[in-house]
Amino acid sequence: MYDLDKIRADFPILSREVNGKPLTYLDNGASAQKPQVVIDAITKAYAEEYSNVHRGLHFLSNLATEKYEAVRGIIARFLNAGDENTIVLNSGTTEGINLVAYGWAMPRFEAGDEIVLSVMEHHANIVPWHFLRERQGVVLKWVDTEADGSLDPQKVIDAIGPKTKLVAVTQCSNVLGTVVDVKAITHGAHSKGVPVLVDGSQGAVHMPVDVQDIGCDFYAITGHKLYGPSGSGAIYIKPERMAEMRPFIGGGDMIKEVSKEGIIYNDPPMKFEAGTPGIVQTIGLGVALEYMMELGMDNIAKHEGGLRDYAMQRLTGLNWINVQGQAPGKAAIFSFTMEGAAHAHDISTILDKKGVAVRAGHHCAGPLMDHLGVSATCRASFGLYNTKEEVDTLVDALELAHELFA
Ligand SMILES: Cc1ncc(COP(=O)(O)O)c(C=O)c1O
Repeated sequence: MYDLDKIRADFPILSREVNGKPLTYLDNGASAQKPQVVIDAITKAYAEEYSNVHRGLHFLSNLATEKYEAVRGIIARFLNAGDENTIVLNSGTTEGINLVAYGWAMPRFEAGDEIVLSVMEHHANIVPWHFLRERQGVVLKWVDTEADGSLDPQKVIDAIGPKTKLVAVTQCSNVLGTVVDVKAITHGAHSKGVPVLVDGSQGAVHMPVDVQDIGCDFYAITGHKLYGPSGSGAIYIKPERMAEMRPFIGGGDMIKEVSKEGIIYNDPPMKFEAGTPGIVQTIGLGVALEYMMELGMDNIAKHEGGLRDYAMQRLTGLNWINVQGQAPGKAAIFSFTMEGAAHAHDISTILDKKGVAVRAGHHCAGPLMDHLGVSATCRASFGLYNTKEEVDTLVDALELAHELFA
């Protein structure tokens, strides 16, 4: 039983007003709101349990370490990773993908080697690969989306050639909501001996994830979209790949011994976690993931599927709105433009006056914007606490914007 009223009551910010109107928060794709249990866990961690981790031998340090390290196991359970040592804790997807770029790809890739990407990747899954292009002559091969915004797994697999060293794809587009069959892509890529990195920043928010079933080599998540604190996250790395990686950031915690002559690294995954981490943020992420698992990822997906269908029906019913991305089975993420002169920023400003929070801009997806032939879109992205009434509020606010700009 998905008790939406109760769930909404778990998120204190949802009861506030914005510009004199009840908040309609539809910017979950950028960052999700936090349930009280996460807020309480953060307060408790600072008020009663705070110390640095891994280093001290005193009570609080041991307690903080215990709480922090337990999150590795929670994330492993959330992703069905099996072994918690496949989980590298970090500040989010951007750090996770940069770890793979610097720690795994850079020492292994040579000029002319290829990375296959979809055109709808977020900049976090593009810019680190451009570094390899700029610095090492690696070639980026782009696979376009179809007219409905879907990504044909076979086209990704067909793009893999003898020089391809990595496929890096998102599981769910932050712009179109397209859900990608990353299992089929991984299967095809592995049959050609090519590892796969999956950007799970949006995917893990909207559907149950089983990294062992997908079979991918890397799977990155970011805590603030998962109803947890910003500055938290993780990347799952298959043991074979982790064994091939060299550390990216050096410093405390990732070493066992340091002398004038050299260093002995800590065992993985800590070998890839340098410096004082986001202790409290990570503890908060653990609580957020427990919260999601308690609701049930299948239940969340089902609820959001209902919102998607309703929003799709209402938005496509407005003949002056152009919904970008209508792939079957997509997540409840809607990017759209409005016919006429209205710029995405102007539309979002009008919506804001009605208490409706959406995002406007390029959504850190430059190549996709080029592919779609637009400079910006408005994006309404739904989360586990949104309602059908909020879809209606969005549509009412859009009608007002259309009247003003038409
Ligand atoms: C698909 C996708 N990948 C990567 C990121 C980057 O996440 P973060 O900024 O938390 O590292 C985002 C955030 O918007 C995203 O939507």
